Amino acid sequence: MTPQTLTIQYASFASDDALQLAEKNLIIAARTAALQAYNPYSQFFVGCAILLDNQQIVTGFNIENAAYSVCICAERTTLSAALTQYPTAKILALAVSTYQHNQANDQPTFPCGVCRQFISECEDKNEAPFPIILGGQTGKVQIFDSIKHLLPFSFGKANLLP
Ligand code: THU
Repeated sequence: MTPQTLTIQYASFASDDALQLAEKNLIIAARTAALQAYNPYSQFFVGCAILLDNQQIVTGFNIENAAYSVCICAERTTLSAALTQYPTAKILALAVSTYQHNQANDQPTFPCGVCRQFISECEDKNEAPFPIILGGQTGKVQIFDSIKHLLPFSFGKANLLP
């Protein structure tokens, strides 16, 4: 067997100061949204901010439930809000920020597998890739130009449509 190599591309920045203004504003919006998380069971704060081509920024956070499997991640609450409020708008960028009490919050957290699948569907619907901007409340920011770099070999509409 000849092993194949997969390249994952991303950009890494020491802080949001190195970002372009629109990207910086979006990660700041995600950081602010994280502080509103409804997270009584995990106390893990996740915020998301989505920039649309109508210049709106839609924000959201994780919403937990006493029946744990009903919890919804910030990425999915926010994408659902953006798609339902602005069904024809194109997504230009999506930022996610996390925060936890009594912990260093200077590193990005990566979206869970379910959210990667959800974002991938949204990117297909969008008909154009959009950057995923990940950061803590401070410090390093990583940018992936497409969810496909976080979810290679993805399952999508192309697998189902004739
Ligand atoms: N969470 C998110 O909001 N996004 C992710 O990608 C991973 C996890 C939330 C779900 C739950 O409210 C808390 O973080 C702990 O898992």
